[in-house]
Amino acid sequence: MTDDVQNKAALVTGASSGIGEATVRALRAAGWTVFAVARREDRLAALAAETGAVAIPADISEDDDVSRLLSQVTEAGGVDTLINIAGGARGADTIGGASTEDWEWMYRVNVLGTMKLTRAFLPMLRATGEGTVLNLTSTAALAAYEGGGGYNAAKFAQHAMTGALRLEEAEHNVRVIEVAPGLVYTEEFALNRLGDRQAADKVYQGVEKPLTAEDVADVVRYAVTAPHHVNLDQIVIRPVAQAANHKLIRKS
Ligand SMILES: NC(=O)c1ccc[n+]([C@@H]2O[C@H](COP(=O)([O-])OP(=O)(O)OC[C@H]3O[C@@H](n4cnc5c(N)ncnc54)[C@H](OP(=O)(O)O)[C@@H]3O)[C@@H](O)[C@H]2O)c1
Repeated sequence: MTDDVQNKAALVTGASSGIGEATVRALRAAGWTVFAVARREDRLAALAAETGAVAIPADISEDDDVSRLLSQVTEAGGVDTLINIAGGARGADTIGGASTEDWEWMYRVNVLGTMKLTRAFLPMLRATGEGTVLNLTSTAALAAYEGGGGYNAAKFAQHAMTGALRLEEAEHNVRVIEVAPGLVYTEEFALNRLGDRQAADKVYQGVEKPLTAEDVADVVRYAVTAPHHVNLDQIVIRPVAQAANHKLIRKS
């Protein structure tokens, strides 16, 4: 672990719920300065009041918001670590029944949002001499499944982008980490994907211990606080009950 946390500062997207929110808590508890980014101001304000993070409401897919975010973070002292967690899934249709709107949403946030934030903050990360980018992808980035086409496509793209970035930025000493979780129980992910509570609950039904947002946040915290020359370049994290995407143990 680094012994100089006073100087560590991260921007965390997706901070208004689930894994992003838990990551803000974990890094604040570890003594980091944290800029918490998402669209919902009320949730960010509550998290900021609780943890001491700096809330910056922004839509990561909007160029103007990204420019404003960069200015605000620069004025507030900058960051050495960018943690791209904002994202998610919409729908579980087969390709034959794909919704263009859902696919566009998934690309806009997971792929383009991650690219826009990374592009904007790379000069700052390089200038620190020891920058880190961590992208939160998914096991959906590593294996396709029926009904996963749009989410698979977006997360595979985010995974590919992460690989290219690692190659491009090594000369600048920017470390690039991918965290790819399997089934994580968060309040909103499946609800946003499937549109109603009953369908969302079914995703986790009978699974005794899915991962929690805190489990994933703990891994993220570990990866970004490891000494800078240590690059955990791809971390796959699943609950024991999910030995593979196609093998999920449910107890009745
Ligand atoms: N839950 C799982 O099983 C699981 C598994 C593997 C990977 N993941 C990935 O982990 C990440 C977090 O998932 P989660 O389970 O924590 O889901 P979540 O609770 O739905 O969190 C998604 C976050 O992204 C933010 N967001 C969405 N669109 C945004 C935009 N345009 N601009 C800024 N922020 C935006 C949301 O905040 P606002 O709505 O306030 O903007 C929210 O904070 C996602 O990338 C997801 O794909 C999840």
